Amino acid sequence: MYPLIRNRRLRSSQAIRNLVRETTLTPSDFLVPLFVTEGKGVKKEIPSMPNYFNLSLDLLEKEVKELWKMGLCSVLLFAKVEENLKDNKGTEALNPDGLMQRAIKTIKNACPQMLVMTDVAMDPYSSYGHDGIISDGEILNDESVEVLTEMSLSHAKAGADFVAPSDMMDGRILSIREALEDEGYTNTGIMAYSAKYASAFYGPFRDALDSAPVDIKNVPKDKKTYQMDYANRLEAIRETEQDIDEGADIVMVKPGLCYLDIVRDLKNEIDVPIAVYQVSGEYAMVKAAAEKGWLDHDAVMMEQLTAIKRAGASIIASYFAKDAVKLLG
Ligand code: PBG
Repeated sequence: MYPLIRNRRLRSSQAIRNLVRETTLTPSDFLVPLFVTEGKGVKKEIPSMPNYFNLSLDLLEKEVKELWKMGLCSVLLFAKVEENLKDNKGTEALNPDGLMQRAIKTIKNACPQMLVMTDVAMDPYSSYGHDGIISDGEILNDESVEVLTEMSLSHAKAGADFVAPSDMMDGRILSIREALEDEGYTNTGIMAYSAKYASAFYGPFRDALDSAPVDIKNVPKDKKTYQMDYANRLEAIRETEQDIDEGADIVMVKPGLCYLDIVRDLKNEIDVPIAVYQVSGEYAMVKAAAEKGWLDHDAVMMEQLTAIKRAGASIIASYFAKDAVKLLG
């Protein structure tokens, strides 16, 4: 009771604030998303993601060595697929010599200890920009799961440590887990994008991979028939518990900042590590406001990342990983 208790004592100097701080970011919190592209010497800035790049494999090699030196030991890979290789069934995704498969090998050669996770999804390979096969105006579930399962196996064969299905089809975790077990990839993990919302914050990412849904007759140009409605929270718990039952090692909430209530709900309910993906639109907003001089980039970045960890994230997938670690010193 005041004046016996004065809460400001614990805020009165930097030293005491450091001593009582409840949440501390470290380099090992981060999972670094990387975009790979064909070619040599290519480092192409993504227009809606300032200071973030599509990298060819030779430069990917340099990048992962640099990340490792900074204490960033886990990456999440995305491939920018050439337009002429895309089709409705994501055929190119299963090519053992495809860009993703070569990227995995490149990293494992350059930096064997680096933890390599791969995004498992059809949209970068789909001529329609959807995460599933389309037939008669519908995104097919079970047929798409078959492709995602083969894709996961292909990534595991190439050397991925974890596969990260981001599609939101039903039953894909069980199917992938069983296939990995059957083929002897018992140590390959699954990070399930479990509570992935149909979000407008993915825009810049779709620019990066040129993977936005296109106009097709009778098919909605959004992903609302498979990604979750952002108005729902109980559904997030249901989805996540199912993924754990099906064999997910890590579950994910995505996007980040608007969904921290979901992260906390899950933290209270489940006991596997939770990853949070601070997505491209969240990154773009901070960059844009900072460019205008309207926000302090570094301060806002650290506040947001700390909030994600405070909410209950064990893993933060973020385009800010390098910027943040530089500040951590
Ligand atoms: C692919 C995928 C997307 C993201 C990660 N994996 C896009 C989408 O679902 O449309 C978004 C990541 C970001 O915005 O940073 N299924």
